Order: sequence, then structure tokens, then C-alpha cells
Amino acid sequence: MASVEIKGIRKLYGDVVALSDINISIPSGSFFTLLGPSGCGKTTLLRTIAGFHDQNAGRIEVDGKSIEGLPAYRRDVGMVFQDYAIFPHISVRDNVAFGLRQRKVLASDISKRVADVLEVVQLGAFADRMPHELSGGQQQRVGLARAVVIRPKVLLMDEPLSNLDARLRVDLRAELRRIQRDLGITTVYVTHDQEEALAMSDTVCVMHQGVIQQAASPLDIYLRPENRFVATFVGACNFMSLSKEGGQFSLKSSGARVFDAAGFNATEIACAVRPETLRVASGHVTPSPEEIAIPAKILDVSFIGREMEVLTITDGGEQLKSLARPDPAIIELANGSSVTVLVKRDDLAFFEATEVGRRVG
Ligand SMILES: Nc1ncnc2c1ncn2[C@@H]1O[C@H](COP(=O)(O)OP(=O)(O)OP(=O)(O)O)[C@@H](O)[C@H]1O
Ligand SMILES: [Mg+2]
Repeated sequence: MASVEIKGIRKLYGDVVALSDINISIPSGSFFTLLGPSGCGKTTLLRTIAGFHDQNAGRIEVDGKSIEGLPAYRRDVGMVFQDYAIFPHISVRDNVAFGLRQRKVLASDISKRVADVLEVVQLGAFADRMPHELSGGQQQRVGLARAVVIRPKVLLMDEPLSNLDARLRVDLRAELRRIQRDLGITTVYVTHDQEEALAMSDTVCVMHQGVIQQAASPLDIYLRPENRFVATFVGACNFMSLSKEGGQFSLKSSGARVFDAAGFNATEIACAVRPETLRVASGHVTPSPEEIAIPAKILDVSFIGREMEVLTITDGGEQLKSLARPDPAIIELANGSSVTVLVKRDDLAFFEATEVGRRVG
């Protein structure tokens, strides 16, 4: 167990800025996830922590001590890759023992430690199998066993589940988290799957173009995104246009006053609302005091089992998507039917209208 401090890390490839002034503090024993779109710098940051390349500026401390200049094999870091990177021609047992032999651990200790870690990843009965005799999920667990058997202070995982089918990903997600908790090992996990990040992490760190956008608990990331990029990358958002009169912003689609900000123009503010917070009711409905009523028409309703997805178009021509428990009264409405979309004022979020515009109000 160890804390990890990443201080002012900058990494260039030629003139591409892969990481720009990254500052992160990872508490000992926690599960920390880097989440972001392809090319945002996740792998580059993991490789920097692992010591596979040098940064252009900044430093990394493990338990308060700089690891500057330490080569990868002396950093006490275990790494699990997307493509497992297990040796195909040797048994599960020998794969797991590899790092211990390299470190000249006593043979009698090796067999005990390998057996113990294979129990943890529930592969005790598979020690003598060859990698090609295992399923994808089992191979991934061999990769994990290999990384943790050396008892690293820090475990780094780069999209370890991305080669697996959807069902197995979900099963292994829970299992990875259990193993991480049992071992209490500080973990930096990389994914571009938002659901995986929210489900597994103590802290989710959203990255975009080499810059950290927000690092917070899964709940805070979802409920209180600090900027527009985070709001749209994690979960879905509807955006509604605003008009401005005398420093007051109103929803174009309903006329309701929603926001007070003298310093901005209407086009400079984006108003966002999550689909699951919208309520669609048939016909004309009077809103409660905390709600805003938006007149709209049904564009499409899809009943997807547990939920229904209702796409509406406001009279002003804006599409709004809502997600709710199935309601036969709505599902049976014909396309083009008049409905009211009800929005709670508290569920509206306002951002500067640029791609990474900060939250305002
Ligand atoms: N060896 C390299 N040489 C030049 N540019 C590189 C190199 N490796 C990565 N890059 C660039 O640095 C940026 C960050 O790449 P990185 O691999 O860290 O992204 P990532 O977030 O891991 O993406 P993905 O989700 O696709 O794996 C990208 O613009 C990429 O093209
Ligand atoms: Mg990557």
C-alpha cells in the first residue's frame, strides 16, 4: 500500500502535448480511474508512472518519495495490459512465478506465493493449464495474478477488460474490485467506459486532450460535473437554448426564467438537463411550483424493457430525450401527439457554451 502523488507532469511527443500539467493525489489503497476519450493521454500517464518513458516536466512520488530516475523494474509497480501479455508457451503457474524468479525469490517461497495468489483470482485448479486452454476472462486473471504476485506498491491497469465480451466485463469488474480490496493495493485503472469507471472507482478522473477536467467521486462526477465536457462525456445531456432579457435568462421553449447572470450573452450559456430527470405527461399539464412545463410533441417512443426512451420535439424545434419507467399512457401515444415535458428547476445545469465551458450558477 502506498500513496501516489503526481506533480506537474508534462509529456510531449514531438510537438504533440500528450499530458499538460497533470496534478493528482491518490490516497493509499484507493481505486483511482482515468476516464476519457481515445487519445486523451490515459496510457501516456500510466506509462509515465510505470517508468516506461521520461516526462518532460514534473515528478511522481510514491509514499512521499520521488521515484525519479528509478527504472521501471525498480519502481514496485505491477502492470496489467489490455492484451494480457502472458507468455503463451508456459503454464499458468510458470507465468505467475515469472516475476518472482526474476527477483530471485527462494523457490520454496515462490510455490507458496503463486498458490496463494491463484486462490485469490480463483484459478487454483488451473495452475497446470496452458494459456490457450483458458477463456479470455481466465487469461485476464492470470495477467492480474502475475502483476500482483510481486506485491507491488501500486497496481496499474490499462483497459484490462476491453477485449472481453460485455457479460464477462461486468462479471470481472466486480471481481477485480474484490481482489483490489482484499489486497488493499493502490490502483490506477484506465478505461474509456464510463459505466465501468463509475461502478468500480473511489475516484474518477476525467481527462480530455491531456488535461484533467475533474477528479471526484463517481457520484460527484455524475451529479455535479464541473464543466460541460464532463457533463456530456459521463452520462447523457439534453441542451436547451436560452434567451436573455434584462440580465435574466429564460428557456426559449417555455419562457420560464431560469438563470440570472448579467455578465453573459444568451449564446454564451449552455443549459443542460439529464434525460432521466425529465418527465413526459400526455396533453397540457400545469407544472408544480418547482417545475417548468415545456409544450412538445412526441417524435418517437421506444420501450426497452426496464425503461422507455421518449424523444420529443418542443414547439420551438428542440429535441429532448427523456428516460423513465415504462408508462403505458405514454408508450401508446401516436407520434405527433401533444405532450408536456416537465423539468425541475434544480435539475438544470448551466455551463459556458464552449466544449469545456466551466459550470456557472
Ligand atoms: N509514441 C508516440 N509518439 C507520438 N505520439 C504519441 C505516441 N504515443 C501516444 N501519442 C499521442 O499522444 C496522445 C495521447 O495518447 P495515449 O495513448 O496516451 O491516449 P489514450 O488516452 O490512452 O487513448 P486510447 O483510449 O485510444 O488508448 C495521442 O494524441 C497520441 O496520438
Ligand atoms: Mg490507451
